[in-house]
Amino acid sequence: MLSPMKGLILAAGRGTRLRPLTHTRPKPVIRVAGRPIIHYAVENLLQAGVEEIGVVVSPETEKDLRLALEAYPVRYILQEEPQGLAHAVGVARGFLGQSPFVLYLGDNLFQKGIRPFLEAFSEGVSAVIALVRVENPRQFGVAVLEGERIVRLVEKPKDPPSDLAVAGVYVFTPEILEVIQDLKPSARGEYEITDAIQGLIERGRKVVGVEVQGWWKDTGRPEDLLDANRLLLEELAPRLDGEVEESHLTGRVVVERGARVVGSRIIGPAYIGEGAVVEGAYIGPFTSLGPGARVVRAEVEYAILEDQAVVEDTPLRLQESILGVGAQVRGRNGLPRAHRLVLGDLSQVELA
Ligand code: TTP
Repeated sequence: MLSPMKGLILAAGRGTRLRPLTHTRPKPVIRVAGRPIIHYAVENLLQAGVEEIGVVVSPETEKDLRLALEAYPVRYILQEEPQGLAHAVGVARGFLGQSPFVLYLGDNLFQKGIRPFLEAFSEGVSAVIALVRVENPRQFGVAVLEGERIVRLVEKPKDPPSDLAVAGVYVFTPEILEVIQDLKPSARGEYEITDAIQGLIERGRKVVGVEVQGWWKDTGRPEDLLDANRLLLEELAPRLDGEVEESHLTGRVVVERGARVVGSRIIGPAYIGEGAVVEGAYIGPFTSLGPGARVVRAEVEYAILEDQAVVEDTPLRLQESILGVGAQVRGRNGLPRAHRLVLGDLSQVELA
C-alpha cells in the first residue's frame, strides 16, 4: 500500500533579516492580514488533502509556534541549530518514515495553494519543485529545464541560466533522505536543499519543475511582510462583526468581534483585529491591526500593527510601518520639544 502524503513545514530559522521583530518571536508567527504567516501554510496543505503535518521548530521558536498553531493537530520536530533546509528535513526523518512528503517553507505564501505541485507528482517522479519567474534570478536558486524536467539547479548564479527561481514548496519521495544523509555542508556552512535535489538529479532521477500560479511571496524582509499583507488584504471579504460608531468605512474592511471603531475613517482594504480600538483615527489602505491594537487620534496607512501595538496622538501619518507586539508610538506635547525613544537592538526609525 502507498503511504499517504505527509507535510513538513520548516519554522526553525533565525529570521535575521527581520530583526528586531524576530528577536522575540519567530517569523512564521508574525501576522499578515490578521493571521500568523504559518496558518496559510497549514491551510494550503490541508486544502490539498495533506493531513499529517509536522513542523520543524528550534528551541527558541517552539513555544510561540505551539501557541500560534494551537487549533491544528500538528506534530513538532526539534532542530537544535538552523543548519540548513536539508538538515531540517534530515532531523524529521523519524516523522517522515517511508512517506512521500511536501516540504513547505514556513515563511512562504502561495496565493493559489499547492495542488498543482501534488498533481505533478506522478509515478516515476522523484521530486516536484515549485518555480517562479523572477526579475532578479541572481538572488535565488535557479533551475535549468529541459521540457518539464529540471536538469540542473544553481544557487545564486552570477550568470543565470534562466529566470525560473526555486520557490518554497517541494514534493519528494523518501529517497531524498538518503541523499541528505551523505550531503556535505556548502561554502556558507549549511546543508542546502538545492544540493540534495542536485544529488537526486545526479542519481538519474526525474525532477520536475512546476510554475507557481498566482502570486508567491517569501516574507524574508520587512518590505516583503508589508507587500504580503497588501496581497492578502486584496482578497479580503468585507465583514463587520465589531462595533462601528460615527465612522465612515470605504472598500473592503473587516472589523472583528470585540473591536471598536469610533469617529474614524477607514479606507480598505483593511483588517481590524479582535478587540482592537480605532478612535478619532484614519486607517488607510493595506493596513492590518492585530488583536487588541489601538490607533487613537492618529493616522496609519500601509502598515502592520501586531497584537496590542499602540499608535496614539502622533503628529504625522505612519506609513510603511511595522509595529511588533506591544510596541507603542505616541505623540507628546510640552517641553522639551524632542523625540523620546526606547528602541530594541536593531530597531529602525525614520523621523520626518
Ligand atoms: P530562510 O529564510 O533561509 O532563513 P531564516 O528564516 O532563518 O531567515 P534569515 O535568512 O533572515 O536569517 O529560511 C526559510 C524557512 O526555513 C524559514 O521559515 C525558517 C526555516 N529554516 C529551518 O527550519 N531550519 C533551517 O536550518 C533554516 C536555515 C531555515
